[in-house]
Amino acid sequence: MTQNTIAQTPKHVAIIMDGNGRWAAAKGQSRSDGHAAGAGPVRSVLKTAHRLGVRYLTLYAFSTENWGRSSEEIDNIFSLLDQYIDKETAELLSSGVRLRGVGNLDKLPPSTRQALAEAEKVTAQNQDLTLSLALSYGSRAELTQAARDLARKAQAGELDPEAINEDLFGQSLWTSYLPEVDLLIRTGGDKRISNFLLWSLAYAELYFTETLWPDFGEADFLAAIADFQSRQRRYGRA
Ligand code: IPE
Ligand code: IPE
Ligand code: MG
Repeated sequence: MTQNTIAQTPKHVAIIMDGNGRWAAAKGQSRSDGHAAGAGPVRSVLKTAHRLGVRYLTLYAFSTENWGRSSEEIDNIFSLLDQYIDKETAELLSSGVRLRGVGNLDKLPPSTRQALAEAEKVTAQNQDLTLSLALSYGSRAELTQAARDLARKAQAGELDPEAINEDLFGQSLWTSYLPEVDLLIRTGGDKRISNFLLWSLAYAELYFTETLWPDFGEADFLAAIADFQSRQRRYGRA
C-alpha cells in the first residue's frame, strides 16, 4: 500500500534563503543592498504561510560558516536583522506569530541578542505559527553539543547510555521544540543543504528553485507548496 498525502499543507516549512549577493551583483549593487532586499520576501512568505495554515516556518538567516564573511557584511546583516525585529514585532504579536531564534545565539552581537530576547518574550504566548530565525546556526555544532550534553549526564550518573534513543537525542537539540521538516525550499539555484537542520530533514521533501531570494514572491512560494502537495511520502514503505 502506498502512503499518500493528499493536498496537505506542510506543517513545518524550512527555507534556505540564498542568492542575495548574486541578485545585487546582477543589478550592479552592493551585497548589502541584496540583503536589504531580502526582507520583502520574508514578509510575504510569512503572510502566505500563515494564511495557508503552516504552523512552523524556519528561516536560515545566518550560518556558522557565514562568520567567515567580511566584518562589514556581517555587521550589515545583523543591523538589518535588528531593524527587521524592531519593525516587525508589533505585527507578529497582533497576527499570532511567535518568534524564536535558534542556533549558537551566544555568538550574536549584543544588540541582536537583546532585540531577539525581547521579541521572543513579547510573542511567547502566540500559537498560530512559530517563526524561527536560524542565526549562527550549524547542524554539526547542534549535533555535537547534543552528544556532549548527553555524555556529561551519563558521566554524572544521571543517564543510562542505554536510555539514549532517537526521541531523547532529538530533545537535546537546539531545535527540540520543532517537529520534523515537511518541506525544505532553497532559492538561488544551488542544490545543497549547507549544514541546515540535518536531523530534522531526514524525511523532508526538497524543493530547489533558481529564483534568487529577493525575487522570491508569493507565486513562487505557492508553487513550492503545490509541488509538495504532489509528492508521495512513503517513509521507506512499499
Ligand atoms: C544568502 O544570500 C544570505 C546569507 C547567507 C546571509 P548570499 O549572501 O549567500 O547570496 P549569494 O549566494 O552570494 O548570492
Ligand atoms: C546558506 O547560504 C546559509 C544561509 C542562507 C543563511 P550560503 O550562501 O552560506 O551557502 P553556501 O556557501 O552556498 O553553501
Ligand atoms: Mg549564498
